[in-house]
Amino acid sequence: MPKKPTTKEEPPRPIGVFDSGVGGLTVVAELRKLLPNESIFYIGDTARVPYGGKSQATIERYSQELAGLLLAERAKVIVVACNTASALAVQSLEETLRVPVIGVIRPGAEAAVKATRNGKVGVIGTRATVFSKAYERAIEALDDEIEVIAEPCPMFVPLIEEGWLDDEVTNRVIARYLEKLLRAGVDTIVLGCTHYPLLRAAIQRFVGPDVALVDSAQNTAIAVQKTLKQHKLAAPKTKHPSKLQVALTDPSTAFLRVAEEALGLGVGEVLPRAVQK
Ligand code: DGL
Repeated sequence: MPKKPTTKEEPPRPIGVFDSGVGGLTVVAELRKLLPNESIFYIGDTARVPYGGKSQATIERYSQELAGLLLAERAKVIVVACNTASALAVQSLEETLRVPVIGVIRPGAEAAVKATRNGKVGVIGTRATVFSKAYERAIEALDDEIEVIAEPCPMFVPLIEEGWLDDEVTNRVIARYLEKLLRAGVDTIVLGCTHYPLLRAAIQRFVGPDVALVDSAQNTAIAVQKTLKQHKLAAPKTKHPSKLQVALTDPSTAFLRVAEEALGLGVGEVLPRAVQK
């Protein structure tokens, strides 16, 4: 009897996610929870992190390069899991890429608008994010009565990458940056950098239980779910189990292990990817 021809099933296309480093794994953790059927290919630009003090032209160039690497992995959507790149490069990505692009600013703004009761919202992020005023614009577009008080916190990323998540030095830096927001009477603070959810417990201790801390991660996962549905890109039921692949542009993995443990993610072997300097 002739053998049935075996049709080789192509593995499903992944959701492509990038960040300047490893902080974007906070978004990946929420994507894994909400969309367990979807495979994810993540690239962290550890060779060129931090983006937070760089110019818009540089951040756009880096973002285009990382998106190109994700498209080479057959990414069906691109999630910009970095507030700095979302604030400064999403528009250029949307104009040039043929797949949907989802940034983290609008989802973070939506979370803040939903959480505030007194209409005073604090936003913390890198210098580039805060100076871009992207959160002010996104919050104003949703509710123009909300007052936004933004504060750059450039020391947070190195402290987090050092793994000092529960540390006296970190607590003093938190107090120094956030006192101004508390004095202004904010009742909600947007953790406007994908690294910051790792400091959530320490920040909450300082601001107290009456201040809501919101981040983009969960709302971004919901935005991705909606986009996949809208473009009919949701993963089909297949015999291929969904997988998470992580690539870094520099193989330093010390912080990756901090994030992996804090977020309960199984990252496994890290793939190398090269970018221009
Ligand atoms: N992950 C980046 C962000 O969300 C912060 C780190 C950096 O400065 O590159 O803004």
